[in-house]
Amino acid sequence: MTTATADFAKRLDQTADDTEALLAKLLSDELLPDEIARPKRLMDAMRYSSLNGGKRLRPFLVVESSAVFGVPREAALLVGAALECIHCYSLIHDDLPAMDNSDLRRGRPTLHKKTDDATAILAGDGLLTLAFDIVTRDEIHKDATVRLLLTRALARASGIGGMVGGQMLDLAGEGRFGDREPVDVARVQQMKTGALLRYGCIAGAILGQSTQKEYQALDDYGRALGEAFQIADDLLDVEGDAAALGKQTGQDAALGKTTFVTQLGIDGAKQRVRDLLARADSALSIFGAKGDVLRAAAHFVAERKN
Ligand code: IPE
Ligand code: IPE
Ligand code: MG
Ligand code: MG
Ligand code: MG
Repeated sequence: MTTATADFAKRLDQTADDTEALLAKLLSDELLPDEIARPKRLMDAMRYSSLNGGKRLRPFLVVESSAVFGVPREAALLVGAALECIHCYSLIHDDLPAMDNSDLRRGRPTLHKKTDDATAILAGDGLLTLAFDIVTRDEIHKDATVRLLLTRALARASGIGGMVGGQMLDLAGEGRFGDREPVDVARVQQMKTGALLRYGCIAGAILGQSTQKEYQALDDYGRALGEAFQIADDLLDVEGDAAALGKQTGQDAALGKTTFVTQLGIDGAKQRVRDLLARADSALSIFGAKGDVLRAAAHFVAERKN
């Protein structure tokens, strides 16, 4: 293991631990001002799908893009926790019978299997709204405009023109709503997966009140990383090991999804990941050595086994 990779692995673990602790606190039974009650079944479901699991890559991107600008770690961790709440909600809903109908997630039964569809839908809704509660909190930045920009960007990444819209196009591409239409795979991936990962990268630039050029660099990096991430996910669905992944494989073929793997073949998809990696690397060049951890993150995404 090179020093850069060892350092990367240590930092990813540390952020995962810190995120876990923070989410446990945010999802505790303790009431916030103006809350009337926190129903036990809802809280248990939200905790089941958010705690003890996941690579926490999105919070890591927030923390490391923030570190480039010397943003206080506590602020970045809060934004990372908000982003992770959105991600966990997207997974709960993605797994529902009405969507991908998956039984296994992070090595455990999916939430609707463990509980029921209504509980899973509401746990997802709860995590989505909690994310927006978190990202507006005063501790994140003294300047309310910065918090507003972070919040708006999170809404755009999560919503119509981002993850939710991408999930809709993904299902439409399977022919769920009538005839199957040609799929613009790059667009679907940029939206359903890329948008949240890109948010993780630009969040640091917003928090750090970066220059426009720095923002653009992280934006370019985030787009390349986001697309590479979903291609890697699609490759793992074909070539990966279900035990290591903690989720079923072969699902995309069973659902008839169009991906870069079906369009370009395995080797073509891998080449596209390498091209995206080169794009991510070059976007970071303006940061010099300060970009090393993010550079390692892009390689991790492309080479990951889970
Ligand atoms: C899985 O995301 C869903 C996709 C967007 C492809 P991750 O692979 O980041 O899932 P966790 O959070 O580590 O479980
Ligand atoms: C899901 O993509 C992306 C989300 C917005 C959750 P997939 O459907 O490929 O994710 P997995 O393979 O179930 O994790
Ligand atoms: Mg899906
Ligand atoms: Mg799925
Ligand atoms: Mg997948």
